[in-house]
Amino acid sequence: MRNKSLFLVLPVLFILSVGAQEPTEPMPVEQEKQAAPELAPAEQKAQETPEITPAQPAPGQQEPKEMEITSIKKEESPVKEEGTNMKSVNIGLPEATLKSSIEMLKKLQADEYVLYTKTLKFHWNVTQNLNFKALHAFFLEQYEQLLTFTDDVAERIRALGGEAPGTQTEFLKLTRLKEEPGVVPSAQDMIKKLLDDHEAIIRSIREDISATAKIDDMGTNNFLSDLITKHEKTAWMLRASVEK
Ligand SMILES: [Fe+2]
Repeated sequence: MRNKSLFLVLPVLFILSVGAQEPTEPMPVEQEKQAAPELAPAEQKAQETPEITPAQPAPGQQEPKEMEITSIKKEESPVKEEGTNMKSVNIGLPEATLKSSIEMLKKLQADEYVLYTKTLKFHWNVTQNLNFKALHAFFLEQYEQLLTFTDDVAERIRALGGEAPGTQTEFLKLTRLKEEPGVVPSAQDMIKKLLDDHEAIIRSIREDISATAKIDDMGTNNFLSDLITKHEKTAWMLRASVEK
């Protein structure tokens, strides 16, 4: 009985040990073809192509960071990086000329807007014994005009393919004029301050007229030549109102 058991168990153990140690016989080609599903040529090529692992940084070398990748992407569109969503316009001016005029006009637009708010504040807060009504109306006329100037400059920027600024934050960053928060000057000082700002804008526009002539942006040149005369007229009226 014992011998009979050994006779049955030993071959089983032999088969198990051989199966664990030796690799399985390769499947006949015909059988393998049947077992593996047919692949499309592209899939076959992909299977044949060895897998490429990303290059590992050398010891001591830092891995590129996400921030660096972002900055590389931004460099591809420098206009957007500056926050100027410039549109392509085909009006016979090179992009550099358009960009230069747009940047110049954005500063002017900010100056116009800051002077508009200053004049509006003076319209609200002016006090004077005999001349209150006249000054209140005088300042009203001027802030309405300055709002129109701001709008005109913004639309000129758009005509050149630029994006006009439209927030207080942008205006304060771009303007060359100074605001005086919490200060309410006398009526005469209001007039002087407005005159100073109009004259400052006139000087800036005069420089811009020369600059646009040099870069052959005659449309902007004409626009500025028209605008300067309007500021000069307002400056004259303010000058005439200053007490001697
Ligand atoms: Fe008013």
